[in-house]
Order: sequence, then structure tokens, then C-alpha cells
Amino acid sequence: MKKVKSALFVALVMAGCQGVSPPVDTPPNVNARDDGREDRNDGGRDDEAVAEEPAFPLAPAKVIAERLARFLWDEEPDDRLHERLERQTLDRGVLATIADEMLNDPRAVRGVQAFFRWWLLLATLENLEKVDPARVLDSSLRQAMMNEAPAVGAHVTLETKGTYTELLTAPFTFMNERLAKHYGASGVVGETFRKVPYPPGQNRVGLLTGAGVLTMFASLSSPSWPAKRGWLITDQILCVIPIRTLLPPPDLDARRSIREQMITVTASPSCTGCHDLLNSPGFAFIGFDSFGRWRPEAGHGPGETEGWIPRTILADEPRFDGPAELAGLLASRIETSLCFTRFWLQYALSPSTGSAGLRSPAVEQSLGASYSHFAKSGFQLRQLPIAIVRTRAFSGAP
Ligand code: HEC
Repeated sequence: MKKVKSALFVALVMAGCQGVSPPVDTPPNVNARDDGREDRNDGGRDDEAVAEEPAFPLAPAKVIAERLARFLWDEEPDDRLHERLERQTLDRGVLATIADEMLNDPRAVRGVQAFFRWWLLLATLENLEKVDPARVLDSSLRQAMMNEAPAVGAHVTLETKGTYTELLTAPFTFMNERLAKHYGASGVVGETFRKVPYPPGQNRVGLLTGAGVLTMFASLSSPSWPAKRGWLITDQILCVIPIRTLLPPPDLDARRSIREQMITVTASPSCTGCHDLLNSPGFAFIGFDSFGRWRPEAGHGPGETEGWIPRTILADEPRFDGPAELAGLLASRIETSLCFTRFWLQYALSPSTGSAGLRSPAVEQSLGASYSHFAKSGFQLRQLPIAIVRTRAFSGAP
């Protein structure tokens, strides 16, 4: 019976997926070292000119006000913003100043949170149907998980003026009482979210090991297949997007490690086109269950969380062991902050266009200028939406 089911699975997948070779970015206009790495903690480079787009006609003030308010506050513009834009002769520099002021407004917290919720697909958690006989995922936990990474993102972006590296390697997350209970953390009381260090001994570091993100990017039952977590790294972090298959996974053998089963089940040539990309980044997260709890399987041992980023994505095929090393290596690469720039641009321009929108002509047009300003700031997250407001794709006449 099991054999028939996996044969069917293989046949279905083969029918659905052929010829997968996702595009990999070459960084525009940056001072890369020969090995493709770049030092991220240099606090910005004064010696480097910023790539600016040629001058372009701006959209009418009213249109820009609407775009700005949606982008930075996730709401409609108020009269003050309309007046502010109409009073002044606009150019890119003025628009950047206005965007900067808007990010100081309390409404920006909601706006930046909306970006992080969108980027990490967290709205999906509201109705995600997990195999959950013990009723772990009640509605208050779902809500808390949807708010966790956005709270971290808004904090690092707006409050600490942190960098992309800090986002991926922060030793803390945000929790309310319900989420703290899920983590097994004590001393957090009430509905309000606050900054809490990750509980020790749980193998967590940075945004990608939050319980909410790990619940979203997981199989529906535990243990999670590593490919589901690899998908987080390929798509959301590296912008290399294998086609999704959405087929029911084969049965698990409780006696064998999930790592070994992932390798054997996807060993056929009909699977490797995608799974050579998806499996190994996902090994980092072995030990977290489908609800993002640190619950290593019996027999979890050394080597389980070792992996690599395949050379079709990063040419030197860098290796890591566990989430902290993975986060550290991802944070040091141009490809990841370039991908993050793409997501912010897509969010600014056409958030409802799915993964195709990441490489729309408008995104491509303004990617180099946005990235260049972001890099110049030492990858300070707050500077990226401001850089995007300067672009033709965002502020240009329709
Ligand atoms: C066209 C690309 C592609 C091909 C080909 C492909 N997969 Fe996948 N697979 C994915 C992606 C993307 C994911 C993770 C995203 C998801 O599940 O939504 C995934 C997830 C999985 C998972 C985890 C599913 C779960 O719900 O936890 C298993 C198991 C799997 N694939 C097995 C296979 C096997 C076996 C083959 C070959 C017969 C195969 N896949 C072929 C893209 C592919």
C-alpha cells in the first residue's frame, strides 16, 4: 500500500514539474570581492559612489501621497501628508526626506510590520490546517505567531536602526504570554508583545528560527520534511524560486532520521531538479517540530543539521552546521540582501503579483539604485524603503 502511494506521488510530481532552473542574481553595481563576499559591518562606504537612476518625471503629488502612505504606513494618506507634498517642489531628495519623517511617525510600525507579514507569508498561518490532535495551534497562538516576526522586523528596522545581519542573527524575538508559553519561556505576562531573549538550549538565532516562521515553513505534521524549510531559504531569502508541487508527502518511517529519509525519498532524477536546491538548506532546522518547537527526534545527533547552499545558488557551495551558522553565512552574502531589496521593491510596487512580481520590469529597473543606497548605508534596514521612495519605479509618473 505504501509503495503504491509513493509511486503515485512520484508519477504526479514527474507530470507536474520539468525543466527547473531558477534564475540566480548577479549583483548590480557593487564592490564585490573576488569570492563574491562582502564585508557587511563596515558602517557604509564613503568612497563608493551611489548608483542613481537618470532623472525622470515624478507622478502627481496626490498619487505619490497615496503610494507613500500605503507603503510606509499601510493606510490611506491624511490631509497633512497631502498638504506636505503639495506645498513643496518635489524631487528625489525631498521625497527621501519625507519618507524619513514618515518612518519616525508611530504609524510606520504598522507599515513595516505589514511588509514583514507579507514577505514571510504569515497571513497564511490564520487558516493553515496542521495535523494537530493535541490542539496546539489555537487562534490566539496563530495570531501571536503572525505578529512575532513582524514585531522583530519593525523593531530592528525602526527602533534600533539595525542592519540586515542583525535581523538574521538577533539573539531575541518578540513574545506575548501565549507565545511565551509555546516557547516554554517564563515571565512574560499579558497580550502585549515585548522583546525576549530566545530561551537557551533551543538552537535559535535570528528571524528565521522564530516559532511563527518555523510553523509557516513546515510540513503539516511532525517531524517537518527539511525541504519545507529549505523553501524558506531558497525563495524568501535567496529569491531562487523552484516551482511548488503541493502534493501529499509520502509516509514517514519513524525508525529512520528525517534527514536520511529526505535524501532517499528525493533521490530520483524526477525530484533532484528541485530537491538538490531545497533539501540541504533545510537541514539546518532539523529538530524543530511542525509548530516551531525545539523537539529533536529520538536519535537526533551530530551531523543532522549540517548542510550547504548548492553551487547553482552560491558558487562556492558554502557549508554550515545548524541555524546560527546558516544565518551567519546568509547575512554575509550580497545575494541575500539583494533578494531582500527585491522583496521590498515588489512590496512597494505590486505586492499581489506573486513570485513573478519579484522580477517584474519595474523591479529590475530600480533594483540597482535601491540596492546601491542600501549598501552605502551599511545595510541599515531603515534606509531601504527610503531608497525605494527615490526610485523611478516608485515615484515616477505612471
Ligand atoms: C518542480 C520542483 C519540485 C520537484 C520536481 C519535486 N519537488 Fe518536492 N517540493 C518542492 C517544493 C518547492 C517543496 C516545498 C514547498 C512546499 O511543499 O510547498 C517540496 C516539498 C516536498 C516534500 C515535503 C512536503 C511536505 O508537505 O512536507 C516532499 C516529501 C517532497 N517535496 C518530495 C518530492 C519527491 C519525492 C519528488 C520527486 C518524485 C519531488 N518532491 C519533486 C518542489 C519540487
